[in-house]
Amino acid sequence: MTTTALDDVDLLSPEATEDPYATMQALRDTAPAVWSDRHQAWIVARYRDVESALTDRRLSSDRVAPVLARARAEDAPGEESSASRILEILKSWMVVSDPPAHTRLRKLAAGAFKGQRISLMGEAIQARVDQILDDFIASGERDLIHHVAYPLPAAVIAEMMGVPLEDQDRFRAWSDELALVAFGAGGAARGDRHERALRGIEEMFAYLQGLVDAARAEPGEDMISALAAPVEDGDRLDDQELLSMLALLLFAGHETTINATANGVLALLRNPEQMEAMRQDPDMAAKAVEELLRIDGPIKVLVRWVLEDIELDGVTVPAGDRIFLALAGANHDPDYFDDAGSLDITRHPNRHVAFGRGIHACIGAQLARLEMRHMLQSIVERLPGLRLADDATLEYVPSLASRALKSLPVAHDAVPAS
Ligand code: HEM
Repeated sequence: MTTTALDDVDLLSPEATEDPYATMQALRDTAPAVWSDRHQAWIVARYRDVESALTDRRLSSDRVAPVLARARAEDAPGEESSASRILEILKSWMVVSDPPAHTRLRKLAAGAFKGQRISLMGEAIQARVDQILDDFIASGERDLIHHVAYPLPAAVIAEMMGVPLEDQDRFRAWSDELALVAFGAGGAARGDRHERALRGIEEMFAYLQGLVDAARAEPGEDMISALAAPVEDGDRLDDQELLSMLALLLFAGHETTINATANGVLALLRNPEQMEAMRQDPDMAAKAVEELLRIDGPIKVLVRWVLEDIELDGVTVPAGDRIFLALAGANHDPDYFDDAGSLDITRHPNRHVAFGRGIHACIGAQLARLEMRHMLQSIVERLPGLRLADDATLEYVPSLASRALKSLPVAHDAVPAS
């Protein structure tokens, strides 16, 4: 593709939505940073540049403040719209904060993610996966996203927070509503998405406040208690910050893990010999998860704002501009990965950037890996003959950030336990 053809590069076109990797290749082949009129942003898609940009302090993650400023400007005098209120909450999320605010929030959150706590969760996750697959097989349902990938992540987070089983479904609904705003998804729901997201988050905060009060009064082993506890220097999250952090954890771990699982299953369906290898040798699962995250991860692009001019191999990206860091481009860069476009579940080393890098690198990566490992291994073991349903049509959600299938209809030869 020529530079001219890339002048109007559109990551939301039907072609790029279906297969972003061809566009990523064109971007990599053209320049270290390509300006897009359509997106009003620079796009960086080479591994080397994405990796270094992820740790470049001249790029800001604060992408909510400018949108909030616009929403406020449109508010009637003396009134605060749903959009302003919801953006005010999102603005405090560490994922859209820069140091020093980010440093403080990350330190306070890190304790709750200590390795030991997560690694102990394997058994509980496997029990849930078993139940989900029992139900899937017994129901005769076909959509592996809705019935298999979707129920797990929100339930795991809810359980970590100490939410009783009977309330866990509500977490999924709240997370879906939040996604309408945080990812700008939701097509037909766009008109009222701020109202819906705000209603969802207010309900969720009211619900969680009870658990926060209980954790403050009598700390337990759950994540809310861990997040509520002061760190060594005595600093701690206040109630509002804690509720906001819980919403972020729920949201950040829900869609991503669902889409990663679904994309991973599809990649295995397209490479049946590798699915079979996983079936035969469960020890391959950990490496397979890394490779599946590389080949078709759930986040295509991360957005940053440029604080100071940066120079990328002769291209100047000026301060004040927006820049997209294309994880999907970096993870398919043939200058970094051998045979980058092919799935190889034995690939090692595999320094993909699906979880980001630097100060914002995914804080839930260990948990996500554990969930994916149990889920994918159980899917391949318990669903013999797994294949795409004959009449399956695969469609992706048109989204800049997410690589999300709308559904994944499958057939298999498993029989329900009598
Ligand atoms: C396969 C699943 C997942 C993927 C691919 C993923 C990917 C990412 C990426 C790329 C970032 C960096 C964002 C940036 O630099 O702007 C990130 C940050 C984050 N992730 Fe994940 N994530 C996943 C699952 C999870 C889970 C399960 C949780 C929590 C339970 C979680 C919580 C977070 C949080 C809180 C941040 C913000 C960290 C910060 O700003 O310091 N993620 N994730």
